[in-house]
Amino acid sequence: KILVLDFGSQYNQLITRRIRDLGVYSELKSHALSAKQIKDMNPKGIIFSGGPNSVYEDGALKVDPDIFKLGIPILGICYGMQIMAYTLDGEVEKADDSEYGHADIQITSDDAVLFKGLPREQPVWMSHGDLVNEVPTGFTSVATSRNCPISAMQDTDRNFYGIQFHAEVRNTKYGNEILKNFAFNVCHAEANWSMDDFIDLQIEHIRKEVGDKKVLLGLSGGVDSSVVGVLLHKAIGTQLTSIFVDHGLLRKNEADEVMDSLVGKFGLNIIKVDAQDRFLSKLKGVSDPEKKRKIIGNEFIQVFNDEAKKLDGIDFLAQGTLYTDVVESGTDTAQTIKSHHNVGGLPKDMKFKLIEPLNTLFKDEAREIGEKLGMPENLVWRQPFPGPGLGIRVLGEVTPEKLKIVRDSDWVLRDEIKKAGLDRDIWQYFTVLPGFRSVGVMGDGRTYDYTIAIRGVNSVDGMTADFARIPWDVLQNISTRIVNEVDGINRVVYDITSKPPATIEWE
Ligand code: XMP
Repeated sequence: KILVLDFGSQYNQLITRRIRDLGVYSELKSHALSAKQIKDMNPKGIIFSGGPNSVYEDGALKVDPDIFKLGIPILGICYGMQIMAYTLDGEVEKADDSEYGHADIQITSDDAVLFKGLPREQPVWMSHGDLVNEVPTGFTSVATSRNCPISAMQDTDRNFYGIQFHAEVRNTKYGNEILKNFAFNVCHAEANWSMDDFIDLQIEHIRKEVGDKKVLLGLSGGVDSSVVGVLLHKAIGTQLTSIFVDHGLLRKNEADEVMDSLVGKFGLNIIKVDAQDRFLSKLKGVSDPEKKRKIIGNEFIQVFNDEAKKLDGIDFLAQGTLYTDVVESGTDTAQTIKSHHNVGGLPKDMKFKLIEPLNTLFKDEAREIGEKLGMPENLVWRQPFPGPGLGIRVLGEVTPEKLKIVRDSDWVLRDEIKKAGLDRDIWQYFTVLPGFRSVGVMGDGRTYDYTIAIRGVNSVDGMTADFARIPWDVLQNISTRIVNEVDGINRVVYDITSKPPATIEWE
């Protein structure tokens, strides 16, 4: 394996990810590990991540100097290169101009190991305020750019390498090749790691951590918590109890699909709470979007806690937190949680230890695990779905009749998108009931019915989004079917705003 030492860069997990993509197991660990601890882990190579500090700052993150005596190859990236130069006997200084974004580097040596087989000039991604202005003894400078005379350095005797740019981000054109050269040509790692290994390791880890204790999981019906459920079940079987709150704001058949699959196929022990009435009565008469969200969120916690309290002897709470939900603390590998998106809050009088087996993974990796665990496609490839569910897709007051309209139209939309083979191409798609009526004509008669809006967007992380270019004929089928099959609808419109300025959901 290759260890990545965390110096607090926003890209540190991405380095781990890139190395794993090469088929080499990689883990992110604290920069504060001692040389002895690292030696015991027996890595094939070490990567120092970037970081926000300057090496001269008070409290700048340091590295145990004995690491350089272990005989293990080291690659320093950005701050990692600077801390390498600083800890050995090189020199780091403040750059005249900080450099953020695109830069072109020139390889200046015929023997630049990390750049073997790559063009002499190549685009890279820089993000730094300091730079190395003198390489340590034994090193040579092997690449240069306009603002950064020493863009890369190497000491091939000791196998130490430094690059000032970020090889792990896509904007560095040959970043992957550079990491490959390090992993295979320098570290002689073998490409023998896969998600199967990850699953085995996690299962082993969970068993060890949980022992004979009990674990509680809040299932939302989404991908992440479902994958955690199946993984934990595989690890500890009946020691896992899950709570699935059906707030009545789920999509058509969704609750049944979750139960059929997770209970029926995988044998999980799930307490399903039918709380539709509770939620609907709390939402009665409320039309302000934020109020609705708060009510749904609070009620969810309430229902979950009421159920959890009935259970005895639970020590652990499992969550489907992904890496993207995790924020780096920056000081060491202790990571703090940004948002508990499955379970909004824990009961005050219950002290759970958290288990988050997916918190080093990206969404697509979590999906891959789901597939490897044999989970059905409709669970694994679920679109993002907001916690408040259809409650924020019925604009204004939520009533059972309006929920039915949104649920039925959403079902038609999903069916047609799937038939058109677009279900994995469009990031998220759903229907919204704005709640106004307009005039139409059906048969020979005048109608005065509701309008349904279709929303389809493409996005990477939901932060920004572009409306999806759904083909006209697909839209036509959707429109015809919704008007014919969903009672109370005589008009269908398509939302062609991107985010920003609009948001993805309408409330
Ligand atoms: P917006 O509407 O803010 O949505 O552009 C961005 C993405 O987040 C989803 N979303 C939520 N997800 N809890 C969630 O877990 C929520 O309260 C929530 N609100 C919006 C939305 O579906 C979209 O994918």
